[in-house]
Order: sequence, then C-alpha cells, then structure tokens
Amino acid sequence: MRKKGILITGAAGEIGMALIESLSKQEEYRLITLDLKPLEPESERFVTHVQGDLLENSLLARLVSEYEIGIIYHLAALLSTRAEFTPEAAHKVNVEGTLGLLKLASEQSQWRGEPVLFIFPSSIATYGVPDLEIKAQFPHVREWEWNYPRTMYGCNKLYCEMLGIYYSQYYQQLAVDRPVMLDFRAVRFPGLISAFTLPSGGTSDYGPEMLHAAAKGEPYACFVREDTIIPFMVMSDAVRALIKLADAPVDSLSRRVYNVTSFSLKANQFRNMVLKYFPDTQITFDPDLSRQTILDSWPAGLNDNDAQRDWGWHPIYDLESSFSDYLVPNIVELYRKFKD
Ligand code: SER
Repeated sequence: MRKKGILITGAAGEIGMALIESLSKQEEYRLITLDLKPLEPESERFVTHVQGDLLENSLLARLVSEYEIGIIYHLAALLSTRAEFTPEAAHKVNVEGTLGLLKLASEQSQWRGEPVLFIFPSSIATYGVPDLEIKAQFPHVREWEWNYPRTMYGCNKLYCEMLGIYYSQYYQQLAVDRPVMLDFRAVRFPGLISAFTLPSGGTSDYGPEMLHAAAKGEPYACFVREDTIIPFMVMSDAVRALIKLADAPVDSLSRRVYNVTSFSLKANQFRNMVLKYFPDTQITFDPDLSRQTILDSWPAGLNDNDAQRDWGWHPIYDLESSFSDYLVPNIVELYRKFKD
C-alpha cells in the first residue's frame, strides 16, 4: 500500500518553510517536500525531503510510485525580478514545471477515482495597470480586471491559473467518459512579509528588506519612490489562506482563483511603520527605474470580497497588528538569537 501524502514543491522557499511548520501539526498525511535545495534542519524533522528538480519526470514518477498524493501545494517558482533576467528559464520552471505537475495530478485523480487537490499561490503580478492614473482609479481590483501582466512571472502565473482551470474542468472534454478531474484552487497574493525569512528575486522585496535591515541595525536604501503603493500581507496569514482554501468545501467555491489581501501602504508609510519600532534606522529612497515600472503596474489594492464570502477568508493581522504582534516581536527575537 502506498502511503498518503501531501506534496510541497519549492519547499525550501519562504512560503514553503512557513507552510511546513503549519502542516506539521496534522497527522493524516505524510509531508513530502521537493526542492533543488536542502531544507533547514528544523523543517527536515517533519518531512520526507527529496532534493531534486521538478522538471525531472523520473523524479515525479518515483514519488507517485511511493506515495498516494492527495494534495499538492505547488510553490516552486522564479519570482518577478529574477525572472526578468532569464525570462525563458523562468518560463521553463514556472510554466513547464506547473504543467508537469498538473498532468501528474490529473493522472493521480483518475487512478484514485477522487480529485487531487492542487493549491497554487498566484500573485498581484498577474495584473498590469497601464499608468498611475488608472492605478489610482481602481484602488481595489477584482479578479477579472486588468489581467495584462507586464512581467514574465506575471504572464506565467496568469497562464498557469488558466491551465489549472483547464485541467479541473475541461481536460479530455471530447472523451466519451469524462475522467475524474483534479481540483485546482489558487490565491493571488499581495507582497508577502515574513518575520523569519527574506524573499529573493521578488519586486515587492523592498518592504521585508527595509524591516529586516532595521532590525539588524543596518541602513537601507529603498529601490522605489516614496509614493509607491501596493498591498501586503504577513506570511502567517498567507499560509492560513492556503490551508483555509484547501479546507473549503468544494460547493462553497464560486471561482477557482481568489484575491486575498490585508493592507495597502505607500513605501514612505512603510518606512514610518519601521521607524516607529526602530527609530534610529537610516532609510533613504534610491529608485531603480526598471523595478519601479513593474511596481507601478501592480494594483494599489486587491478586492478579496469573493474569498471572504465563499470560504470565510479574513486576515488575522491588519497593518498595526502585523507590525506590533507578528513582525516586530518575532524579528527582534530572531536577530537577538543571531547575536547571542
Ligand atoms: N512577491 C512577488 C514578487 O515580488 C509577487 O508575487 O515577485
């Protein structure tokens, strides 16, 4: 008998580490993690880790021969800034990696006679507003508005959402007997901020970078203009959103892709929040034009009414409590430990 498993790809990344911690409390499924890198020793305790490349078919085949994968959290991706330097390589990982996994989930769904749940973190990068005037006119975009991404990463995420919908609803639509299809669900995240880790290669990274630099007592030159505005959310809420969406009864869902968000703020307001807790930090603004253009194309805020209505989504942390209750206490503790 194969063991029942939850597969987490990109498990050594920021969301992966936080997700492993949350899922380690459940006992029904074995956690199988996949990443090019090894896991941190504290995560490794809870999982069976496979170090390898998602694009290697034989590796996926081996996994399904050992485990009955019931749920997939597909987190592996090259983020927006990094993807702009190597767009075709990003396409390979972000799109071909997702396609291979959707195919595997499809086959598994048919084999089990029960849908495999496929949870996919998408992004504000799927949006692209043409200019700052329109950005101001649409402060809380709906899921179907302004789907004109300007980055390879955004294009990849939007297309993979569509592939997910295709494999959940239309796959083999000409066959006489329709197969059991997978159950694809996605959230579009705003910029994420963790108290424990730093992102790498994203464009919303100025927020977490500013905060972590302040906590380490280092100066920070922010790569965007002071008036740059995008939505954010803390990592613990992001992981809650993924798990809550996975747990929602299928009948309650009116869509397969949902916006989720917590608070929107300008880069200078972000600086003021950081200075409230770390008043001696030197924070300056030195905009990088290319990254600025990407951020200006992302919406100022997301409308997440559908997620609230369908699966009771609500962030635990708003702007004030994100800093006072989650980010600052944990980050202070983190760097205190490093100093000791
Ligand atoms: N945080 C991501 C990035 O900046 C967006 O989803 O690329």
